Amino acid sequence: STVFVFNGPNLNLLGTRRPDVYGTTVLADVETLCREETTRQGLDLDFRQTNHEGVLVDWIHEAGAAVKQGTALGAVLNAAAYTHTSVALHDAIEGAELPTIEVHISNVHGREEFRHHSFVSPVAAGIVVGFGVTGYALAIDGLVRLRRPTRS
Ligand code: DQA
Repeated sequence: STVFVFNGPNLNLLGTRRPDVYGTTVLADVETLCREETTRQGLDLDFRQTNHEGVLVDWIHEAGAAVKQGTALGAVLNAAAYTHTSVALHDAIEGAELPTIEVHISNVHGREEFRHHSFVSPVAAGIVVGFGVTGYALAIDGLVRLRRPTRS
């Protein structure tokens, strides 16, 4: 079974962009960390990043279909800045009925006011905020525990 991890805009710059806020780990290292967690859980990982909102919408539809086919558990989503702007992502997660764990590397609630609202949160199964890149592993573990409660 597959776990999708979808990363939104500017996360390709992780490691060099605001290291004071996001740390110095690069996205390739986040993928490695996620792969360690999915391997530990006996699952496959499909890890992606895009700077384009519509691409995220398409991926959410694709992941929702995979969950319905029984080939995937759900998705971990760091929608980055689109979190705070995108009705389209909200509607995609709802429409695709995709079990989604929302992740933010930083504690968005301790930052600017415009980061306090999320269009993703109302349709997320769970939220992991402020744990740095470790949050991705926590989110995968949380998704597995929600989706396979008897196994873990
Ligand atoms: C982020 C927080 C967002 O507010 C910001 O736009 C990002 C990254 C995080 O992981 O902390 O790009 O999602």
